[in-house]
Amino acid sequence: MKPWSPTSWREFPILQQPNYPNSNAVTRVEQQLAQVPPLVFAGEARELKKQLAQVTDGEAFLLQGGDCAESFAEFSASNIRDTFKVMLQMAVVLTFAGSCPVVKVGRMAGQFAKPRSADTETFDGVELPSYRGDIINSTDFTSAARVPNPERLVQAYNQSAATLNLLRAFAQGGFADLKKVHQWNQDFVRTSPLGTRYENLADQIDRSLSFMNACGLNAENTPQLHKTSLYTSHEALLLNYEQALTREDSLTNDWYDCSAHMLWIGDRTRQVDGAHVEFLRGVKNPLGFKAGPTMQADDMLRLLDVLNPDNEAGRINIITRMGADKVETYLPELIRAVEKEGRKVLWSSDPMHGNTIKTHTGYKTRQVKDVLREVKSFFDVHAAEGTYAGGVHFEMTGQNVTECMGGAHDITAEGLADRYHTACDPRLNADQALELAFLIADTLKQARINR
Ligand code: PEP
Ligand code: CO
Repeated sequence: MKPWSPTSWREFPILQQPNYPNSNAVTRVEQQLAQVPPLVFAGEARELKKQLAQVTDGEAFLLQGGDCAESFAEFSASNIRDTFKVMLQMAVVLTFAGSCPVVKVGRMAGQFAKPRSADTETFDGVELPSYRGDIINSTDFTSAARVPNPERLVQAYNQSAATLNLLRAFAQGGFADLKKVHQWNQDFVRTSPLGTRYENLADQIDRSLSFMNACGLNAENTPQLHKTSLYTSHEALLLNYEQALTREDSLTNDWYDCSAHMLWIGDRTRQVDGAHVEFLRGVKNPLGFKAGPTMQADDMLRLLDVLNPDNEAGRINIITRMGADKVETYLPELIRAVEKEGRKVLWSSDPMHGNTIKTHTGYKTRQVKDVLREVKSFFDVHAAEGTYAGGVHFEMTGQNVTECMGGAHDITAEGLADRYHTACDPRLNADQALELAFLIADTLKQARINR
């Protein structure tokens, strides 16, 4: 293997990149971004890797979630706050009902670039280049809006910096205080059966906190009651952006991609001899790669050879996204290959991307029942193989959207039109996300009893 450098990926075949009309403008922006402060510090990525190693060892659970695609138009403090609230709610459900420490990783503060199945989209007989995420072009259906614009890289960086700043403030500044569990529940959720179940759990937490307080444990002497950590992640798709934010850590002289704590490789760009794998093998962040139904065990092992040659726990998260009906067919073989070779892998389930359908009314959607079924099947297969189902990876928002069908409010195909706001894939709303959290908590609890 040739030596790695932050630019070595440029010699490899690459998929899913935009065609910029003006390459000088791109170079200028890349140079500008190479000078900006990193978004995360290498020490934080190392801390996350340590925590993910604990997940790999079955000591904790990974909760990774957020938007399919962050958008410039939907950027606001309240959107960030509400997504964070749902993450906190889900985490508290898992920690309390599932009795399991939770590592929280947002698909936030950098989740902009999207891989697409087709290079063009046709609407009313007009064919235009596909939307590739706000970091590249715009969702508007005009030819001007679809031209890739490098200035968007700078806007995405700035939005990521502001998002991360607010997330850090929320996580450390008192918003995540366990005394506020009731306040994380939003009004539109409170009235649903899941909201009520959550309120009951929050009441129990209140009582536990009073008990602990009486025993002398409080926010002053036990900061965990008052603060939390939320790490960031996104798909490392747009490699000139990732390269521009890659820095040599002055403490270790290792390279880190400082655009996020964790990066993953999508199901469409995980070719072992491709540019995405080449780029990520050289940075020391914790990494993920998606594994859909086409993933072959041999290819998976080669990816592990290249991305994790030292077989370090916490380095690799394999995010399986098979589709609810396919988990039992494809996952056992992958697990057995990993076990046979003694590889250290954190397995998580993305129950979203294998379950996307189109309604007769033209909406891209997912059925909550398929999402729940995929997660359940993921747990069942791991239980049968004697391995640890370590986490979930999902697309959700704190907003009261109608993008996925079913759930406690039973959103129908017709109901999707009410509040369908996503820039890309359909997300679970807060209520549906809570339903998922309770299902996982019940399963986790059972799995821990059986251990
Ligand atoms: C995604 O996570 O948004 C995505 C595109 O997933 P996948 O690569 O699994 O299709
Ligand atoms: Co998606």
